Amino acid sequence: MTANPYLAGNFAPVETELTATDLPVTGEIPEQLCGRLLRIGPNPVNADPAKYHWFLGNGMAHGVRLRDGKAEWYKARYVRDDEVTAHFDWPAVEGPQAALSIGHGVANTNIIGHAGKTLAVVEAGNLPVELDYDLDTVGRFDFNGGLTGGFSAHPHRDPDTGELHTAVYSPLWQHIQYLRVDATGKVTKTVDVPTPGKPMVHDCMFTEHYFILLDLPCTLNEGAMVEGLPFPYLWNEDYGARVGLLPKDGSAEDVTWHEVDPCYVFHPVNGYEDAQGRVVMDVARHPRMFATDMHGPNEGRTRLDRWIIDPNGSKVSESCLDDHPQEFPRLDERLAGKPYRYAYTAEIDSGFVTGGIRKQDLQEGRVSSFHPGPQRHCFEPVFVPASDSAAEDEGWIMAYVQNDERNASDVVILDAGDIEGGPLATIALPRRVPYGFHGNWVAD
Ligand SMILES: [Fe+2]
Repeated sequence: MTANPYLAGNFAPVETELTATDLPVTGEIPEQLCGRLLRIGPNPVNADPAKYHWFLGNGMAHGVRLRDGKAEWYKARYVRDDEVTAHFDWPAVEGPQAALSIGHGVANTNIIGHAGKTLAVVEAGNLPVELDYDLDTVGRFDFNGGLTGGFSAHPHRDPDTGELHTAVYSPLWQHIQYLRVDATGKVTKTVDVPTPGKPMVHDCMFTEHYFILLDLPCTLNEGAMVEGLPFPYLWNEDYGARVGLLPKDGSAEDVTWHEVDPCYVFHPVNGYEDAQGRVVMDVARHPRMFATDMHGPNEGRTRLDRWIIDPNGSKVSESCLDDHPQEFPRLDERLAGKPYRYAYTAEIDSGFVTGGIRKQDLQEGRVSSFHPGPQRHCFEPVFVPASDSAAEDEGWIMAYVQNDERNASDVVILDAGDIEGGPLATIALPRRVPYGFHGNWVAD
């Protein structure tokens, strides 16, 4: 058997679905928190260690439901795809079919609430999978026929309109598609922007006037597909790297492209326009991607950078905000696309194993952090405002935390304004939540 780090330790899958109620809590859960803290990641049912890539494992959704200061339940459910249903001899997944089904229709990367639905979402061609409130699979979902291909793992909600803006790509396409969904779940605009190759486009961002496209040098490699490598997107030294600004109401001809030093970015934190009309975007920057490690994202130190793009200029201006390794950046999403002050990230200890939570005061250039203690690893930090009218940073940071000591996970709730003060509440889950990708708070 080949050792594969993405099947070892807390990357390893759990073997069953699970429900637990009345979870033990240390401290006090703020009474205002009524909803579900959702999370998703890979949980493969049939992984071959030689061929397994972390990005392709069957999805499992995890959720903790809070109400009246109590942690009512924890649920773990497979996001059903054709491999999962065959493995467990469950009924076939209902709903529309994607043009190209990757990994048996896996949906494992993000879990969002939109237009009253809970959706497990993924990039590169597969359709979203709709889940019910209790995380059981309803079926594949294509926004009522609105998708011309798949969807994306990172739709970003415009806080003023409730619309989702996102970038869709597919191994079948030589373009990146800008896709807009309104607050009711209707696709209202698509723009196909041609690209010189087939880049992996994990995320995107928008500002008041622009949608920001990332055309970076990790591209579909036909040779990798022929050779049967675990993942067909590889570092492409000769591709170049550029950032595109598409006017949100424009067409593909209106895009301006801006060269950037070759790197890979899975996740921008946020983007906005400054007083001079330049686009500012903060990113978690990897030096390369899928150049040497064929099983997961592990190509050296990840740091937080600021990119400034003059729509009338050529090159992106780049500076480092914080060179401590970090990923999974989040913000107070009421400021998505607007000037903002605070970013929250997960510190990377080694490989893609996370540790503490880092809070960036981008105005003062100050960092504060929360360290959960030895043998504990915080996942992506999610900010939840204390109320609709709360100031930026006035609210809570919530995160799943792997606790190696008891081989199980916790959920911590921190005061965002004082993360160094430690958890207001720690909720003990009955089992570990494997390292995975993303999550969100979905208020009831
Ligand atoms: Fe992501």
